[in-house]
Amino acid sequence: MSAASTPGTGSRADGAAAAPAGPLAGRRILLVIGGGIAAYKSLDLIRRLKERGAPVRAILTNAAQAFVTPLSVGTLTGEGVFTDLFDLTAEHDVGHIRLAREADLAIVAPATADLMAKLANGLADDLASTCLLASDRPVLLAPAMNPTMWANPATVRNVARLAADGRRFVGPNAGPMAERGEAGLGRMAEPLEIVAAAERVFGGGRLAGRTVIVTSGPTHEPIDPVRYIANRSSGKQGHAIAAAAAAEGARVILVSGPVTLPDPPGVLVRHVETAREMMEAVTAALPADAAVMTAAVADWRVAAEQAHKLKKQPGGGPPALDLVENPDILATVGRHPTARPALVVGFAAETDDLLANARGKLERKGADWIVANDVSPATGVMGGDRNTVRLVSRAGIEDWPELPKDEVARRLVARIADALAAPPSQEG
Ligand code: C5P
Repeated sequence: MSAASTPGTGSRADGAAAAPAGPLAGRRILLVIGGGIAAYKSLDLIRRLKERGAPVRAILTNAAQAFVTPLSVGTLTGEGVFTDLFDLTAEHDVGHIRLAREADLAIVAPATADLMAKLANGLADDLASTCLLASDRPVLLAPAMNPTMWANPATVRNVARLAADGRRFVGPNAGPMAERGEAGLGRMAEPLEIVAAAERVFGGGRLAGRTVIVTSGPTHEPIDPVRYIANRSSGKQGHAIAAAAAAEGARVILVSGPVTLPDPPGVLVRHVETAREMMEAVTAALPADAAVMTAAVADWRVAAEQAHKLKKQPGGGPPALDLVENPDILATVGRHPTARPALVVGFAAETDDLLANARGKLERKGADWIVANDVSPATGVMGGDRNTVRLVSRAGIEDWPELPKDEVARRLVARIADALAAPPSQEG
């Protein structure tokens, strides 16, 4: 198929339209429109993709045709619209295998719970699911559904499986739903967010094609059904690092302890409570190119969690809590015998002897870098929006100025991109 003949967004002095340049120019997009109210946004998505020089072919599922018409989609794509697996004319002209193969990227928007379930399980009972199964090209999913459907364990399972299969996600976002009065996570990403995610597939970021694992937040270690041991970590720094890595095009798996922050867009988030759950989620996410362990993992847990709430005994003293050490996630990843990421970064939140402790951790945990920060109460780092860090590696120590946590994240991600691009001998 030829490249797009659509006019570009720029204009020249001679009146001719400049050909669009950018990561999407000439990239053939197969847009699968699922049956959801967000389908109307896909009309705008077609326009945005074409503005960037990407020819678009669209498949409408049966359900999607209840929301947008083949006529409007076909008019916008200018490449026809495909709806029926057994439409002989389309089969003769294009064929579902060619439709799948003659695309550089498949975008599913809106990706309904049903479409994701089919793709996760390899079902192929209509044109959309058959083409997705027949495609060996990257697939970008823009989920859109009611928040309860998004949180359903079956959807959570399907999303995890799709991510493990290398499918990419953009959104969903939090916000009001089409259903009156409902709000939550499930709104489809906006067309421009989907375009940005599509650009990242084609090398729009320095970490495109890389997988980065980030841990964030505290862990909660249960004492009994109502009490737990925790710490003051807010997750702001770890979440900012995950967002910054995603913005550079990485596939990011964020393993987050209990925090009150929203999930960063475009990031696959695993929510956990305890250190042992965090360990399990991190090791399940390997292999990866880089791991950034920002979480403030509880060092100890209660040896035997009580099944019933501990009661005050009249005249009795406080209960003795028997503590055992938690597994060290950073050390496990840093010393992994078969799947150690090329770059392993730890954090050292200290109130005393910052540098000596950071250097010790570098060695003890097999990390390449330790980001050391002073978390004494006077610094306001814990829960605050700013951070002053030192980057400790075997090559030396760098002092960074006091910066917003978002900026610390961007600088760290830029350094990670530098390190992954450099030959291994230059590491550490
Ligand atoms: O030993 P300390 O807790 O100070 O080490 C901090 C670093 O180790 C952080 O990167 C933290 O995420 C990581 N860590 C871990 N698992 C633990 C304890 C700490 O990954 N059980």
